Amino acid sequence: MSATVLITGCSSGIGAATVRRFADQGWNVAATLRNPSAARFEPGAGRVEAFALDVTDQRSVDAAVARTLERFGQIDVLINNAGYGLFGPFESATPQAISRQFETNVFGVFAVTRAVLPHMRERASGVIINVASLTGLVAMPLYSLYAASKYAVVGFSESLSHELAPLGIRVKVIAPGAVATDFSGRSMARTFEGDGGPYAESIRKVVGTFEANRTAGGATPERLAQALYDAATDGSAQVRYVVGDDALAVMHSRKELGEEALLGALRQRFGLAP
Ligand SMILES: NC(=O)c1ccc[n+]([C@@H]2O[C@H](COP(=O)([O-])OP(=O)(O)OC[C@H]3O[C@@H](n4cnc5c(N)ncnc54)[C@H](OP(=O)(O)O)[C@@H]3O)[C@@H](O)[C@H]2O)c1
Repeated sequence: MSATVLITGCSSGIGAATVRRFADQGWNVAATLRNPSAARFEPGAGRVEAFALDVTDQRSVDAAVARTLERFGQIDVLINNAGYGLFGPFESATPQAISRQFETNVFGVFAVTRAVLPHMRERASGVIINVASLTGLVAMPLYSLYAASKYAVVGFSESLSHELAPLGIRVKVIAPGAVATDFSGRSMARTFEGDGGPYAESIRKVVGTFEANRTAGGATPERLAQALYDAATDGSAQVRYVVGDDALAVMHSRKELGEEALLGALRQRFGLAP
């Protein structure tokens, strides 16, 4: 019997590429997304099934997990990929915007993990992979809430990896640097209106630095899909996977310079040093 992976946020980017990667390897794929009619892969083709799943809606999470088990009989790997970025000054973020960021990026991961866990525990087998970000290991400016959400995902994943290891379930977390998806277009919310008022100058500098990095090119979604596939199948106890040349370079600098000097170097790079 083929192994089965359930992936969240498959409408585009990393999620859609990961559906293709696992399907190409002969896996059963429960490709979940908020709106299955927006699927960019072919639902129903081969062993790929598209199921509706909004990570902020517990009923849709439970229904998607139940339908996956009905269709494929088991879930070997869960990939919590759905997420979006909230960009801008913390001061201008509304309580609603803050809640929404955490409901999707953090509570969404909790909800899907809780729904799948009893099944994996009963089988004493499974791999849970959470997609965090480099910004969940080294925070970038004007992303305080996105960074907080991804730090939460990293902390959750690492602690849970200890808790579930004796039960035969491995938990892993992927920290990508920039990935060439439409994340900054379709999956970005802002905390501010107009030019950001008192923060306009900082916003301009930070956006300029990110743009320059983006044109230098990030990892492809296919590279992320391969990293997720490798993490699912490498049989290792490795928990953290840093992916992308930019992310690896930042982690290398942290090791070389030390934590405090890296923060100073980042502030310089973004033009935010006083
Ligand atoms: N691109 C990067 O540079 C980068 C870097 C580091 C980490 N990441 C992380 O990688 C993951 C995937 O991002 P991506 O780059 O592939 O961007 P993307 O193409 O915009 O994908 C984001 C996905 O999340 C889904 N999503 C958002 N809210 C959801 C919800 N409530 N329920 C279910 N799905 C939801 C979106 O679905 P809809 O189509 O319905 O909106 C979309 O499928 C995210 O967790 C992101 O934080 C990305």
